Amino acid sequence: MSKSYKIAVIPGDGTGPEVVNEGLKVLGAVSEKVGFKYETKNYDFGGERYLKTGKTLEDKDIQEMNQYSAIFLGAIGHPDVKPGILETGILLKLRFSLDQYINLRPVRLYNPAFCPLKDKKAEDVDFVVVRENSEGLYKGMGEFQKKGTKDEVAIQISYNTRKGVERCIRYAFDFCRKRNRRKKLTLCGKTNVLTFAWDLWERTFNEVAKEYPDITTDYAHVDATTMWFVKNPEWFDVIVTDNMFGDIITDLGAMVQGGMGIAAGGNINPVGVSMFEPIGGSAPKYTGKNVINPLAAICAVSMLLVEIGEEKAGKMVEDSVIKITQTKLKSLAAGKMGYSTSEVGDLVVKNL
Ligand code: IPM
Ligand code: MN
Repeated sequence: MSKSYKIAVIPGDGTGPEVVNEGLKVLGAVSEKVGFKYETKNYDFGGERYLKTGKTLEDKDIQEMNQYSAIFLGAIGHPDVKPGILETGILLKLRFSLDQYINLRPVRLYNPAFCPLKDKKAEDVDFVVVRENSEGLYKGMGEFQKKGTKDEVAIQISYNTRKGVERCIRYAFDFCRKRNRRKKLTLCGKTNVLTFAWDLWERTFNEVAKEYPDITTDYAHVDATTMWFVKNPEWFDVIVTDNMFGDIITDLGAMVQGGMGIAAGGNINPVGVSMFEPIGGSAPKYTGKNVINPLAAICAVSMLLVEIGEEKAGKMVEDSVIKITQTKLKSLAAGKMGYSTSEVGDLVVKNL
């Protein structure tokens, strides 16, 4: 008997629904080819619903999410909602409540023509960032003192627990071993200035490393990491870092792999429900025009498939994306692909 999955779909705001449509189109096609079954249910969490109801996400929503095999998310962010409300109320709330403590962000160049770096081949840009996804500066700890006065102080705390750091580092070592490419794990931090947080990270990293003698380890400060991403991306295999640094370096990673149009990520709870999303935002100016690149969302579907155990299907989707990226698309940027959003989805389906 073939397996069956339950997938929660959150199209969200802006271009989210358009790219999610294409992702689901590809999911439908690959499920028929490979022979697995799934059901989806849509949820309208996002800016529109918030403006109508004042609701972001309630505890009962989280409980419902917990019953799924995986979550597929489009984009969260609305021009009429003050920055921070939807991000913390929906996206971060999902990540934290579902304990998706890993944010996995592959950076892979499918077609060197779309790389802004000179003379880089596809194999030169092929690494994965393992971003801690539940702590650090994202924990939201801190306070104002003397708010509104000229002596005001704003404190924002980076919160790092041994358990939280260790589970992330272990995941990165295991992932690096399983990926079996160059078997090199780089810790990206800032030991020279942030001497509490990165001392804990470095000690934990070095201790855990002893259990993985087959993995070569390395360390790079975050500022240097951004430099190497541009100068020598081929040095990297797997990178592990905290929440804030991971957020920043993966936007740069997205650019070196060809832009937000192709960059996908997974919010992973290795023993629970994981959530997959294109890492770009809701792109209000392209909304409803059928011009946004759906490949990031389609790559998110590929990652989702791998995570739920449909590795073959995941690989088929990625291979098809690689093929059309190399042979069909004129650009990965919105409006410049030479095809509409839905045509790109069709191309992926055709090349599965
Ligand atoms: C990302 C985004 C989010 C983050 C925002 C929207 C809260 O930038 O997924 O990288 O900072 O994590
Ligand atoms: Mn980001």
